[in-house]
Amino acid sequence: MSPFQITRTLPEDATDAALRADVLLGLTSDPKTLPPKWFYDAHGSELFEQITELDEYYPTRAEREILATRAGEIAAATRARTLVELGSGSSEKTRYLIDALTDLRTYVPVDVSESALTQAGQALVAERPGLEVHALIADFTAALTLPDTPGPRLVAFLGGTIGNLLPPERAAFLASVRALLSPGDALLLGTDLVKDEQVLVRAYDDAAGVTAEFNKNVLAVVDRELGADFDLGAFEHVALWDPENEWIEMRLRSRTEQTVKIPALDLAVDFKDGEELRTEVSAKFRKEGVRGELASVGLELAHWWTDTEGRFALSLSTAR
Ligand code: AVJ
Repeated sequence: MSPFQITRTLPEDATDAALRADVLLGLTSDPKTLPPKWFYDAHGSELFEQITELDEYYPTRAEREILATRAGEIAAATRARTLVELGSGSSEKTRYLIDALTDLRTYVPVDVSESALTQAGQALVAERPGLEVHALIADFTAALTLPDTPGPRLVAFLGGTIGNLLPPERAAFLASVRALLSPGDALLLGTDLVKDEQVLVRAYDDAAGVTAEFNKNVLAVVDRELGADFDLGAFEHVALWDPENEWIEMRLRSRTEQTVKIPALDLAVDFKDGEELRTEVSAKFRKEGVRGELASVGLELAHWWTDTEGRFALSLSTAR
């Protein structure tokens, strides 16, 4: 059998149905919202790649630094034979882990993008003879069924993407991840940390305007997929720090009073002049908060590593 296998757990039309449901609910709510997962069509994914290279956007570089310096310790602590990566994308930073995990037999990347999974998976099996890649086309926030592969298992969720989930979604997500783990298995979790407000806001409102374009891209997705007539120029990018919730919010502020038609939903959405649509929360964490959220699903914080500037953390927690 080929060392690269790919399994679709999402029906081909699931994305379309989920987008319709999210847009209908979000744009008829008060305040209006859209979930951040719809940023990532081909153009949005390309813009996110550009964001990761901006001076202002430190999380990707900080997490890579931690992985590069700690991969050996992660391997020694877990001895993983199976690595599951949720939201694997290009699997670029995962290379550090794969190279360090000497007992690794199976890599299970999980992503909604079939093209990213195929590209990364084919490259990996070519590079590392003996490694099986069993890719899953799936939404990591939905219940997952993993292939029956040898333990110990290490589940990795990198990039700080857990911060995009609202607290109740986060609790449900962590519980579903915990359900994938047996005693001795581990979770490697990337979390961006609370820091100076200016540094945080600049990371989500860069001088070159790439994040603004990324934010507005969700409107282009709704235009293309649902036939809507959002005018991207009629909205302004907003990034702000919410000190109570300790999260960054991205919003799109209507520059005028306007009505947007969404034919596929048979919907007309009115915006007041200055009305804001929330498109993302990106929560920032503290060590004791992460420890508590992990403990509440039965995971024990075993290691906490940060980059040298203390901006981002990788935690390793184990199932009892
Ligand atoms: C990919 C979810 C980690 O929240 O920092 C980047 C996405 N949004 N700039 C983040 C994002 C605006 C990013 N994550």
